[in-house]
Amino acid sequence: MKEKITFLGIETSCDETAAAVIRENEKGTADILSNVVSSQVNEHKEFGGVVPELAARAHIENIDFIIKKSLKDSKITLEKIDGIAATAGPGLIVCLTVGLNIGKSIAAFSNKPLIGVNHLEGHALSPGLENKIEFPYLLLLISGGHTQYLIVRDVNNYEQLGTTIDDALGEAFDKTAKMLDLGYPGGPNVEKFSKLGNKNYYKLPEPIINKAGCNLSFAGLKTAVLRESKKINGNKKLRYNLAASFQNTINKILYKKTKIAIKAFKEKTQAKKVQLIVAGGVAANNSIRENLSNLAEEMNFKTIYPDLKFCGDNAAMIAWAGIKRFKKNLTNNIDISARSRWPLDKNAPYMKGPGLKL
Ligand SMILES: Nc1ncnc2c1ncn2[C@@H]1O[C@H](COP(=O)(O)OP(=O)(O)OP(=O)(O)O)[C@@H](O)[C@H]1O
Ligand SMILES: [Mg+2]
Repeated sequence: MKEKITFLGIETSCDETAAAVIRENEKGTADILSNVVSSQVNEHKEFGGVVPELAARAHIENIDFIIKKSLKDSKITLEKIDGIAATAGPGLIVCLTVGLNIGKSIAAFSNKPLIGVNHLEGHALSPGLENKIEFPYLLLLISGGHTQYLIVRDVNNYEQLGTTIDDALGEAFDKTAKMLDLGYPGGPNVEKFSKLGNKNYYKLPEPIINKAGCNLSFAGLKTAVLRESKKINGNKKLRYNLAASFQNTINKILYKKTKIAIKAFKEKTQAKKVQLIVAGGVAANNSIRENLSNLAEEMNFKTIYPDLKFCGDNAAMIAWAGIKRFKKNLTNNIDISARSRWPLDKNAPYMKGPGLKL
């Protein structure tokens, strides 16, 4: 197989239209030849969340331009590209279909291999764009739709240790921002305004903190924020105190649950070198990074965080996952369909809904 594989990546699973051209280099990391992301923040701002139909329409309007720009920025032509990777799930079907279909078309007319990438595998492998990473590692995936601890044994080989039983962490941040009227997108604003508040002012619940292993829950915390936010009457100082107390509670939950996950990782892998990789949009949160780095010092493990531009949705991570899968001959046929739900560990129990036993 050719040494330096180059891939075009396409990402349209939610509210970012993105394309990137990535080449593997001799260090085993990636040369980012281009990385174009068009965010739809303005389209969704007035609704305080992503509206699927609007998102799909914006992808359709932007995708041709974004792909053309990524090729132009990369300064290489399509002929020099070894394959096309497009996100095939999980996400909003109406959105995924836009990027996946255009990926299929480009692959078909240029006679190149197609990889339908699991968006979560994109996040999981994203730190490898900049760091030479050895398997296995413990992944804490914290994003807008997912919150999971996984053992990453290899490309395409994942074991879920824990997951949220209700809201995703990004969702909890976004809803907290909405309740406190801190603006959209929520996560970065909660982080920003929490720096202005007293983190010990409110005592908020830490759901399932002492049970269910490293599974997580944020619904009760969200309800408590809602209850307190109703008493605040727009008082700025109290809003910041509540944001700070929310951030502090999240840190306490992640500290405790990561401790449990690290122990489980050690037991299951017997790995001598323990590495924690934190990925997904919420991994951009500096307070969470500091908190987990403190735990790393205490428990003597290594933490790796992707650069901020690779935390939120981007196509560089999709192209990178494409390259990694291509090298293992994990290509797809042109009839691959988009999937709204697509767990990385297909044997993981479904942890939502009535009747759930913890
Ligand atoms: N600094 C931050 N602090 C907390 N949350 C943040 C920060 N920056 C971004 N986020 C959150 O990250 C989430 C977006 O992450 P990402 O783009 O990975 O999610 P997604 O792609 O919508 O979901 P998924 O990857 O699970 O399909 C949003 O909920 C956003 O509020
Ligand atoms: Mg994402």
